[in-house]
Formats: sequence, C-alpha cells, structure tokens
Amino acid sequence: MTSLVDPADVCRRMDEVGYLVDDGLATALALALTLGQPLLLEGEPGVGKTEAAKALARAFEAPLIRLQCYEGLTPSEALYEWNYQRQLLAIRLAESHHQVLHDADLFTEEFLQERPILQAVRFTTPVPPVLLIDEIDRADDEFEALLFEFLGEASVTVPELGTFTATRRPTVVLTSNRSRELHDALRRRCLYHWIEFPEPVRVASILRRSVPSANEALVSSVTALISKVRNLELDKAPGLAEAIDWLSALTVLGVSELTGADVVRTLGTFVKTPDDGEVVRAAMTELV
Ligand SMILES: Nc1ncnc2c1ncn2[C@@H]1O[C@H](COP(=O)(O)OP(=O)(O)OP(=O)(O)O)[C@@H](O)[C@H]1O
Ligand SMILES: [Mg+2]
Repeated sequence: MTSLVDPADVCRRMDEVGYLVDDGLATALALALTLGQPLLLEGEPGVGKTEAAKALARAFEAPLIRLQCYEGLTPSEALYEWNYQRQLLAIRLAESHHQVLHDADLFTEEFLQERPILQAVRFTTPVPPVLLIDEIDRADDEFEALLFEFLGEASVTVPELGTFTATRRPTVVLTSNRSRELHDALRRRCLYHWIEFPEPVRVASILRRSVPSANEALVSSVTALISKVRNLELDKAPGLAEAIDWLSALTVLGVSELTGADVVRTLGTFVKTPDDGEVVRAAMTELV
C-alpha cells in the first residue's frame, strides 16, 4: 500500500490553493488519496463540495477530469464511445480499394473515443488525475449501476477490447445534494463525508480568502448576518456561495458599514425566491 498522505499536509496544501478544510474533510481526502477509494461528498447546496475536488487537484498538481451529471446522461458521454464517422470513412476507403472490413477491424483503439471515466482509468500523466463526478444524484439511478465496476475496481470493460484497469488509482470524488437517495451499492464502494456549513470563524476566513478586497467590518457583518438568515425559516438557506456573492456585491458597491438599506438592495445575492425575500424583509429589525 502507498504510504499515508498526512491529513495535516492535505490541510496545508488545500489552504495554499485557497480552500479551507477542517480535520474531518482533510482526513477523508487523505484516505481517498492513500487508499485510492472513491470519496462521496454530501452537504447542502453551496457548501463547497465541487470546489473541494477542484482544489484537491490544484493542491496536488493533478489533472482534473470532470463529469457533470444530469438526467439522461448516457454511458457514451461518461465512459467511451465509438467514432462512427471515422468507422464509416474507413469502410468507404476500404471499399474503394475493394476490401471488406470486419468488426475486428472497426472496433479497435483507433476508433475508440475516451470519455471522462475511461480517461481517468487510462491516464498517462505522472500524477493520477482527480476525477470529479459532480451531482451524481441528478443522473438517473440506472446510471449509478454503470459506475459500480469503475468505483470498485478502477476498471472499465469495453466488450470489443477487454477490461482496462488503472495502473494507479485515480482519485475519485463524487458529490450529491441528496435530491434522491443513492444506491446502497454505490455508497458501499465509497468513503463518505458530510460537509457541514462551517462555524462562523471559518466562514469569516473563507470570506476573507474569497474576497480579499473586503474590509474587516463587512466580513464580520456578513458572517453574523448569514448565520442569522440561515436561522430564519427559508426555502433556500444561503450557503457559502451566497455569502461570498453578498460580500463581493457590498464591496463593489463601496459599502463600509452595513445598514438595513444595504441589506435590502443586495438581497438578490443571497435570497433566491420572492417568499424568502419577504421573510428576510420582515425580520430586518432583528438582523441589522
Ligand atoms: N472551505 C472552503 N474554502 C474556501 N472556499 C470555499 C469553501 N467552501 C466553499 N467555498 C466557496 O464557496 C462557493 C461554493 O462552493 P461549491 O460550488 O463547491 O459548493 P457546492 O457544495 O458544490 O454547491 P452546489 O451543491 O450548489 O453545487 C465556491 O465559490 C467555493 O470557492
Ligand atoms: Mg457543486
């Protein structure tokens, strides 16, 4: 087995590329790197799941391969597909030379097009890639079954060519917003980590990192207010993404000390439905 990647080292490297991790996430990432086991990250929207995988790639100077999932995602978009146009051309060319091509001539490496998962298995870079399988809960549940071989064995079988297995395991990060339950069989093949919305001190650090031009008073106000807003009964509680957007907007507008009027005019950065807007407006006196 490869030697353990130290969680403290993961923490430091992630910090260097602008992503702040707590012990739990640092350990989960270190184990994923060391054991070569896929890591399933869950957490509410905007909590940093996607960015965790992207930052991991930057931190370890690994290529990032990304597969964005959506309803109707097919194996030919995720695993591999055959280049029909080139096959057709090859057939025509052969015909013009009065030759006949057989399946064995047409389903070869030459006509194989790698998609993200096969690409991650057959990588040629010195550092194994980070494969981000983003928002797996958006893909149809049959799609998950397609991933079992890859998640369990780092292999992809192309019936015409055989089974490809990664020589070293790529680092695989899956994310889900829990819009539907995932198969137990998928969960079993993965390490699991739930990303919590961070404590205020960490929120403030993340805000400082993300909007370096923001003044300290604004960072404190936004940190405090986001936490209060999250305690209101909202349909869509603001996450870190919204907090960052809000702080950026206030900074761009030149706000130095936050007033109720500033909150109202920048509401659209962290409140995303009319009903939630009403709830926040009604609570304004308690907020600022
Ligand atoms: N720990 C962190 N350190 C630094 N920045 C962070 C951290 N967590 C989140 N962010 C920032 O918060 C924003 C939202 O993160 P991201 O898009 O990864 O969230 P997500 O969980 O994938 O959301 P969604 O479920 O909507 O896809 C990004 O701009 C990201 O840089
Ligand atoms: Mg995301």
